[in-house]
Order: sequence, then structure tokens, then C-alpha cells
Amino acid sequence: MALATSVDVFPVRAETDVVLVRQTVRTWSIQQGFSLVDQTKMVTAASEIARNTVIYGGGGTLRIEAVLDGTRRGLRLIFEDQGPGIEDVDLALRDGYTTGTGLGMGLGGARRLVSEFSIESKPGQGTKITLTRWK
Ligand SMILES: Nc1ncnc2c1ncn2[C@@H]1O[C@H](COP(=O)(O)OP(=O)(O)OP(=O)(O)O)[C@@H](O)[C@H]1O
Ligand SMILES: [Mg+2]
Repeated sequence: MALATSVDVFPVRAETDVVLVRQTVRTWSIQQGFSLVDQTKMVTAASEIARNTVIYGGGGTLRIEAVLDGTRRGLRLIFEDQGPGIEDVDLALRDGYTTGTGLGMGLGGARRLVSEFSIESKPGQGTKITLTRWK
């Protein structure tokens, strides 16, 4: 069972918040002892999900947790919004699928960059995406 040793919550409502998310995830990744490559993977994944939260979710929050599982350190990011939700999560994860003007690479790309990835979404109720990367 992973234990959260440190927690913070940030708004994710506008492009300026996405910039702050990137900086915050970089700082916490360094604190968790991640290599430069792993820092960048986590920042990139966070950036994609944060942008989706703003564009499709109508804004939401990021809860960031420094986690510890035994002696294994990691970083967990929980993005939540109360937007329209995702009707077909498997379809949304497919590379090239977009309902907007993007490339449809964000969700699938983010999933490949982390150790654990989960989406809970209900149409009309919103979306919760949890990303964890272990050192
Ligand atoms: N938080 C969300 N709320 C509602 N729908 C979402 C959310 N996040 C993603 N989606 C849906 O999933 C689709 C795929 O997302 P994904 O990030 O993979 O691609 P994109 O944002 O369309 O393009 P890209 O990320 O490549 O710029 C989106 O087009 C949107 O329909
Ligand atoms: Mg996207």
C-alpha cells in the first residue's frame, strides 16, 4: 500500500495553470529523486492531462502526492474535473482519436510515460485521471 508522505492541490483552469503544473511536477520529481529522463516523462504526461482538463473538462484540480511503498518512492498525480466526462474511455485512449483540434495523442502518450494509469469517467459527471510513476 502506497503512503502519501506529502500532498498539495492546485487549480487547473487556464493555460497559465498548466505552466505552473509543469513547474510543480518538475520540482516534486526532483525531490523524489527521479532521473532527468523520468522527470521529463512525468512533466510531459502531466502537461497533456492538464491541457485536457482545461480544454475538455472545463477546468479542474490537480492533487499531487509524494508516495512511498515500502522503500520505493514515487509521484502520484490525480487530475479531476466536473466536465462532460468521456463516453468511451478505450476509444479516447486510442492514438489519433480526438473530438477537438488536437492530434489525439495526449491520453495514450501520457499512459505510456507512467508506471500506473487509470481513468474514471462518467458522462455528465466528470473525469478523474490518476498517474503514478515509481523511481
Ligand atoms: N478531461 C476530459 N473531459 C472530457 N473529455 C476528455 C477529457 N480528456 C480527454 N477527453 C477526450 O478524449 C479525447 C482524446 O484526448 P487526447 O488528449 O488523447 O487527444 P486531444 O486532446 O484531442 O489531442 P492532443 O492531446 O494530441 O492535442 C479528447 O479529444 C476528448 O474528446
Ligand atoms: Mg489532449
